[in-house]
Amino acid sequence: MPKVAYLDNAASTKTDPKVVEAMLPYFNEKYGNASSLHSKGLEAKEALDRARKTIAKSINAKSEEIIFTSGGTESDNFAIKGIAFANKQMGNHIITTSIEHKAILNTCKWLETQGFETTMLPVDNEGFVSPEELEKAITDKTILLSVIHGNSEIGTIQDLQALGEVCKKHKVYFHTDACQSYTKAGIDVKKQNLDLVTINSHKIHGPKGVGALYVKQGVKITPLFHGGDHEFKLRAGTENIPGIVGFAEAVKLASKKDIERITKLRDKLIEGVLKIPGTRLNGPRGEKRLCNNTNFSFMGVEGESIGGYLNLKSICSSTGSACSEALLEPSKVLMAIGLTHEEANGSLRLTISKFTTEEEIEAVLKELPPIIKKLRRMSPIDKVVKHVLPKNN
Ligand SMILES: Cc1ncc(COP(=O)(O)O)c(C=O)c1O
Repeated sequence: MPKVAYLDNAASTKTDPKVVEAMLPYFNEKYGNASSLHSKGLEAKEALDRARKTIAKSINAKSEEIIFTSGGTESDNFAIKGIAFANKQMGNHIITTSIEHKAILNTCKWLETQGFETTMLPVDNEGFVSPEELEKAITDKTILLSVIHGNSEIGTIQDLQALGEVCKKHKVYFHTDACQSYTKAGIDVKKQNLDLVTINSHKIHGPKGVGALYVKQGVKITPLFHGGDHEFKLRAGTENIPGIVGFAEAVKLASKKDIERITKLRDKLIEGVLKIPGTRLNGPRGEKRLCNNTNFSFMGVEGESIGGYLNLKSICSSTGSACSEALLEPSKVLMAIGLTHEEANGSLRLTISKFTTEEEIEAVLKELPPIIKKLRRMSPIDKVVKHVLPKNN
């Protein structure tokens, strides 16, 4: 049994030791400000330019289209508010979906207090947004569509290209929050017709507190911060060079081989957990699911209780997105794909990374069935369970 089986990689990942190594010189020796004109400044500026190039290349963008930020939340705020305020003469309508991260949902909610209107597109029972529904929702006031690429909770990967074609046809800006999918599912800003893309570092074995927003050349966007002329005058503030270097190193280290290995572990976990009676997989199977995501509902038990018992066995899991976990209300994503309150409350998310071992997956498959059995025996919704499940489960 491993010391701690860490299966909450959608919340955050272990910083790769090679990333830490790449960052260290930018704390110890190359600590200059990238805006300074002396040798230490130039050293920092060169590192910044290299990192920008690496990240731009990974999504088929130009270097000057990458704006470094403090992470996914800032990039989401910048994209949505920045487009809303810069383009309000064109319209006040924003379209998003019912399965977004809070950084999008709460930004849209706030914009409603500023005179903007939002439409939340529904999703099907696997979490897919339909391009036809999108087309129906677009009005002559629509300025922006924002859709999460790989869903944080159930792993659904949207067809960005199909949604991008609708946006192009109606001249609507297209933003995707790709924090969960970046380096795992393909992003090609040209092919997918993207105007704005949110990415961050701590989901891909880079440091926390750093991210980026891709802003297509020519897009009209208002900065969030006002100050110096950093980041092509779009994001004031001295750049976090160690963080940015670490972010780019994490991108360079991402590999197809790791994705293939993670996918195998994911499928082993899915097959093993589904052997527990009264269990369902939330979200799609196969290639349209993030390689590292699993999400299950267990009839008649609470996800929080499962997570608590797993924690006692040194297994880290999650019941939903980390940010909403403190609230004991059913996940909006699970409700949006049509789960009942009971099914949503009985959900558990286990997310894998390149550092996950077979041993950790086996630990879950060994520890989980007796936990579910024990909790079902204690369950207040015992009657429902007994009705649905075979004896002894
Ligand atoms: C899809 C998505 N968007 C945005 C964020 C926020 O990113 P950050 O933690 O870098 O602010 C997260 C992280 O939880 C996420 O999963």
